[in-house]
Amino acid sequence: MSSYKIALLDGDGIGPEIMAEAIKILELVSSRNNIDFELIHGSFGASAYFEHGHPFPDVTKQLCDEADAILKGPIGLSHEESKKIPVDMQPERGALLPLRRRYNTFANIRPVYLPKSLAHFSPLKPEIIGDGIDFIIIRELVGGLYFGKKETGINDKGRRYVTESLEYDEDQIAAIAKVAFETAQKRKKVLHNIHKSNVLKSSVLWNEVMGEVGQDYPDVEIKHILVDAAATYLCLNPGQFDVMVMENMFGDILSDQGGGILGSLGLMPSACLGPDKAYYEPSHGSAPDIAGQSIANPYSMIGSVAMMLEMSFNMEQESRNVWHAMQSVFAQGNSTSDLSKPGSGVNMISTDAFGDLVVEELSKTPIA
Ligand code: IPM
Ligand code: MG
Repeated sequence: MSSYKIALLDGDGIGPEIMAEAIKILELVSSRNNIDFELIHGSFGASAYFEHGHPFPDVTKQLCDEADAILKGPIGLSHEESKKIPVDMQPERGALLPLRRRYNTFANIRPVYLPKSLAHFSPLKPEIIGDGIDFIIIRELVGGLYFGKKETGINDKGRRYVTESLEYDEDQIAAIAKVAFETAQKRKKVLHNIHKSNVLKSSVLWNEVMGEVGQDYPDVEIKHILVDAAATYLCLNPGQFDVMVMENMFGDILSDQGGGILGSLGLMPSACLGPDKAYYEPSHGSAPDIAGQSIANPYSMIGSVAMMLEMSFNMEQESRNVWHAMQSVFAQGNSTSDLSKPGSGVNMISTDAFGDLVVEELSKTPIA
């Protein structure tokens, strides 16, 4: 019997609620595939800071080091609550970025997917959606502005100033380019490279290296699009995209727009892949305003489990089964509160009910 150790970092806000639903799926997958998942919770985020004095405590680091994969819930507090934590200990800077750096999870894979049967969740018109929305954003995750040098001070005019630098070297760009070309090769063989080379020197080097790496993938067509134009096309004609690759901050912003065109960030799971370790997380925040009410959408968390099954444990078919089970639950007329307005004719269900229905649906699906 194969056995995997999974570190579960519940996180803050709605994190523990949506993690509970992900665990239901992991337990079902384990029993029906005869695989042992050892699930161990680790403290991470603002809750970890209040409990252990650090948002990414050593005991959690050790747990993650030993785990075969990490499933992470959203972290963060409301703007007001965040002020109770020193700036460098706030969970984004004190836990999330260090997690990414620790395992060099440079490749962030964010599928933006909505089958035609769920088109009613999208704010886009049916004629724009066509047969559904289906593309992948590949975001470089450990470089750029988020990890570059930062400086604050008083300038020679006596004014406060700040500088942050957008840094990449060619090896970092080549690494994410390879992931992008390989992903495109397995799909429609078209790669959209998102950049801002009319202004940023970083994009000039980025595009150069993309072109060089592309020579090893002659069957993939590369198309270069400016990031601002890409934002417009995502609304007007998302069907032209299949695989998109971009630097860290562009990817942070455009992947949230991806969630927007689906209808909710609650539909955005993600995988963060490094050379030796991967972790999986919803692309959204911890939504402290709705925490504890059992109205959060656990799709992105369960979708992150599906990505883990495929990418860390090579369980492609079971991964597809999990995606399919979630989509069937929605296609049967159910909705979570992020996706529909009350009175819109859907059957509004709780976080917990969604997880139970996915379990029911998955139990009915043959494994292979
Ligand atoms: C994301 C999030 C994070 C990021 C935040 C929480 C630091 O927005 O994963 O997209 O900006 O990367
Ligand atoms: Mg983001």
